[in-house]
Amino acid sequence: MSESNFAVFGHPIRHSLSPRIHSVFGQQLGIALQYTAIDAPPETFATQLQAFDGRGANITLPLKQAVLPLCAEISDFARRVGAVNTLTRRLDNHWRGDNTDGAGLVRDITQRHGLDLRERHGLILGAGGAARAAAFALLDAGVAELTIVNRTPERADALADAIGEPDRVHTRYWDDLDSLGNFDLIMNATSAGHSRESLQLPFAIVAPRALCYDLSYGVAASAFLAWAHVTKAGYVHDGLGMLIEQAAESFAIWHGQRPDTDAVYEELRSALPLRASD
Ligand code: ATR
Repeated sequence: MSESNFAVFGHPIRHSLSPRIHSVFGQQLGIALQYTAIDAPPETFATQLQAFDGRGANITLPLKQAVLPLCAEISDFARRVGAVNTLTRRLDNHWRGDNTDGAGLVRDITQRHGLDLRERHGLILGAGGAARAAAFALLDAGVAELTIVNRTPERADALADAIGEPDRVHTRYWDDLDSLGNFDLIMNATSAGHSRESLQLPFAIVAPRALCYDLSYGVAASAFLAWAHVTKAGYVHDGLGMLIEQAAESFAIWHGQRPDTDAVYEELRSALPLRASD
């Protein structure tokens, strides 16, 4: 095993910001590390991971579920979410799987943007992998209620069933969005923006001073952020901060120290084509 080798596995992976983020963290804390991006199609991922001699790895799309059976140990949160984004090699050479996406999301909202999640009435758009991590994390962070709306309603129901809190978690149909009242937390956890599709969302769902948050960043987040600005939501943010905070959580698992995230946030923010409101 190489003590200083780390990587992110995904497919596609060439636009990943993780190598840059981890290299800045390492420099900041004086920790020598190599962090590379490894393109791993699902068919060859297990073999590629076996050949990897590093101490830790991040796992991104579309491999976050596929990696579960390759872990000998899985954190409670990753097990509940059903997805792993952080692997740590244990002494006997097995992999432990964690999921830092949820903690990264909550930290971005509460620490960077200084917003309280407790008692909010939340709406999650989407019920895929990203939505699952967000839903569990927001409920753990104390939101009062969560409504899950997904294009394919069965997936929303499956997520609500997996959460198992019928008093706090409800599912509704997309077509009924304009009759659901308003929400003070609206999360776009769909992947629509990645394929440049726009969502049909009524303005009526946005409560005064609501937080509208897109788990994506860059061009993929632009349509939802533009819509949110027009609604005059109180706070509009993309997921760049979440990306950086989940990386910091992974870094802390591997190196035992949590880096400061502000400098790399500013660097990457200024390199993005579009700014969210800060
Ligand atoms: P991820 O890991 O990014 O969440 P995913 O598991 O493929 O990716 O989930 C993508 C989510 O975006 C799903 O909730 C999907 O809805 P379906 O379950 O109906 O497929 C949602 N999504 C993608 N494109 C969408 C669109 N154009 N309109 C609405 N929802 C969309």
